[in-house]
Amino acid sequence: MTQTVTIKVNGQVRALALTPQASLLHVLRNDFELNGAKYGCGLGECGACTVLVDHQPARSCVIPALGVGGRSITTLEGLPLLNALASLDPLHPVQRAFIDAQGTQCGYCLNGMIMMTVALLLKNAQPSRQEMLDALSGNLCRCGAHVEILKAVELSVQYTRELDGARDAQSAELAKSIPLPLKTNMTHGPTHGPNLGKAP
Ligand code: FES
Repeated sequence: MTQTVTIKVNGQVRALALTPQASLLHVLRNDFELNGAKYGCGLGECGACTVLVDHQPARSCVIPALGVGGRSITTLEGLPLLNALASLDPLHPVQRAFIDAQGTQCGYCLNGMIMMTVALLLKNAQPSRQEMLDALSGNLCRCGAHVEILKAVELSVQYTRELDGARDAQSAELAKSIPLPLKTNMTHGPTHGPNLGKAP
């Protein structure tokens, strides 16, 4: 027996008829054709299937898709949409950091590592090393690439900070280019202080 639910993934909204057994991971991979999230354990224990639900990390293999109606889902493919300065780099800074630090080996855990790092930086822009370790402690890497992954998280902090700086500079430039409002007729202006609208 199916039920229709409206699911929003990376800004794209679709109505789907689903059974109660359909997991969010299944729907992402089979209906939305988004393969960033991986099927690892299927038990909510390895983290390979991590996505963001309303900006909170969630294990999509154990979440019933019928339960996320009206929520906002972000997958690995949608991370650049979180990046307001997409013109500078088509990738999210965390994705770029994992590439530059080579924070992966076989790559199967990579989706989960990146999504957990994004979730961490959304709530804490300057995490300590221990906070990074705590955030990723539930994500398994079977290759043992933990040293490189941690370097990638540290680089993610730096790249995110640099992007925020660039975004601020861009906003300042934008503000300068916006025309100032027309001058008001000061003859009808303030009753106190110099009357700039009348000849002396
Ligand atoms: Fe979902 Fe392992 S596949 S936690």
